Amino acid sequence: MKQDLAQIVVSEEDIRKRIIELGSQLTALYRKIGAEEITAICITNGSIMFAADLLRQLNLHVRMDCVRVSSYKDEDRPVTEPEIIDQIRLDLTQQHVLLVDDILDTGCTLDKVTRILRAQKPASLHTCVLLNKKRRKQVRVTPDFVGFTIPDHFVVGYGLDFAERYRNLPCIGVLRSELQNPPNWCAARKDEQPASRR
Ligand code: IMP
Ligand code: MG
Repeated sequence: MKQDLAQIVVSEEDIRKRIIELGSQLTALYRKIGAEEITAICITNGSIMFAADLLRQLNLHVRMDCVRVSSYKDEDRPVTEPEIIDQIRLDLTQQHVLLVDDILDTGCTLDKVTRILRAQKPASLHTCVLLNKKRRKQVRVTPDFVGFTIPDHFVVGYGLDFAERYRNLPCIGVLRSELQNPPNWCAARKDEQPASRR
């Protein structure tokens, strides 16, 4: 799969180290505000790898739920307003809530989800994103914790997908441009493989 990347943006080792740092910063924050238990809300599908690794670094009790949001529809730019496909089930009233997402791009997703969570009147609400794209946001939203700030490229790997592919890549990278068109994805890859493996 790595051969499908034009460039590696964040290595597997750098992800691992940064998540350990984020885990201790978050644990320290919650200790400071007297929270023995938090409720982590993960925006799926993109944040599943990040959330799985990050939550295991928290030395706290964690309740977990997911909100499923879609806006990309197999493109490399958001094509619709973020749409909530599946809501959370947990009650957040008076809970310490940590919202986890893979990447902040236009800011629309994080803005929409934080508004929904805030309406439930949590005791605290913090946001943590693995990646923050350097481009100007469509809405002003500042995450409390950021793993890495990256240039404005479309990236895949470690939970981030292109047309539901590459989520299982252990690093994060820029997909080669000829692979970014879904109808051509299979054809472009076949051209490269020996006939015996097609
Ligand atoms: P936003 O609403 O534009 O901030 O985008 C947030 C969502 O879009 C993220 O949760 C991702 O699922 C997706 N997204 C944004 N940028 C990328 C990217 O470069 N690669 C893959 N998915 C992305
Ligand atoms: Mg996505």
